[in-house]
Amino acid sequence: MKRILLCLDGDAQPSVFDSVVAIDAGVDHLLRHAGVAPADVRELVHGAMFTRGGEALRSTAVFIGGSDMHQGEQLLAAVQQAFFGPVRVSVMLDCNGANTTAAAAVITARRHIPLGPETTAVVLGATGPVGQRVVRMLAQEGTEVRVASRRMSRAEGVCHRVSRAVSGARVTPHACEDTRCEGLIEGAQLVISAGAAGAELFSQTARESCASLRVAIDLNAVPPSGIGGIAPQDKAVEHNGTICYGALGVGGLKMKLHKTAIQRLFQANDHVFDADTIYALGKSIELEPK
Ligand SMILES: NC(=O)c1ccc[n+]([C@@H]2O[C@H](COP(=O)([O-])OP(=O)(O)OC[C@H]3O[C@@H](n4cnc5c(N)ncnc54)[C@H](OP(=O)(O)O)[C@@H]3O)[C@@H](O)[C@H]2O)c1
Repeated sequence: MKRILLCLDGDAQPSVFDSVVAIDAGVDHLLRHAGVAPADVRELVHGAMFTRGGEALRSTAVFIGGSDMHQGEQLLAAVQQAFFGPVRVSVMLDCNGANTTAAAAVITARRHIPLGPETTAVVLGATGPVGQRVVRMLAQEGTEVRVASRRMSRAEGVCHRVSRAVSGARVTPHACEDTRCEGLIEGAQLVISAGAAGAELFSQTARESCASLRVAIDLNAVPPSGIGGIAPQDKAVEHNGTICYGALGVGGLKMKLHKTAIQRLFQANDHVFDADTIYALGKSIELEPK
């Protein structure tokens, strides 16, 4: 039976990136819907669900994209409300690649340092879809996380949402307006920069003067780098005693995880892939023999 992926995107245009990855992961047909609001979801999901029953339900799945994580979460809730018990299809939420990218970054970091309570991490640009998920996954590991934004109220909002999702999360909000990140990075062992494409958030000088820093990961692939002196293709490159990764250095694992998650959607009709499940899937992929 043909694999059909119903793509629900809150943005005006459905993501081309997500569509290409889905096709490369073996999806036969994409039903792409843009500008989707929660009120639209029920009818769209029923159209996908009631046309195929029993075992065939696993050949249909739903993918939720778009650039707004809050809206994506609302769409996910609406999709799940449209199911009737076992009459359901698998669904994946990955707004702006947030879950797959964040999981790839956090899994990359844990290759080099433990992520338990002994580690302090700073997440720059933590208010975007990717940064929010990075904070959540680190908090889930018990890491102490400093959540940075240019605006304190936005950092507080992320801490509030992550604390609701992760019990015992150790997250603190920080306002940071310049690339020196003074007082923010000191004593931290890990920094992950998830700022907007083409914006430097942490200068090379500031990075090199932070003696505690062991791992630095920059997710921005568009020049200038989000962290000064880290090139997009850097992969476990040591600069001044800090192990550094650029966006492309993390991108291989992100792409593998994204494709694997899409393929797994079609193995059952009841998977729900969001932050926790995608992070767990990423960790299991990491353990597979190379
Ligand atoms: N490597 C990969 O595989 C991969 C995959 C997906 C995405 N990405 C990259 O990951 C990064 C995060 O993605 P995203 O969609 O979460 O980003 P985003 O929403 O565009 O931006 C994240 C945050 O950056 C801050 N920001 C925006 N403009 C800024 C500026 N001029 N200077 C300083 N900070 C600024 C904002 O936070 P405040 O307003 O709160 O300060 C914003 O919430 C992007 O660079 C994206 O290209 C990489």
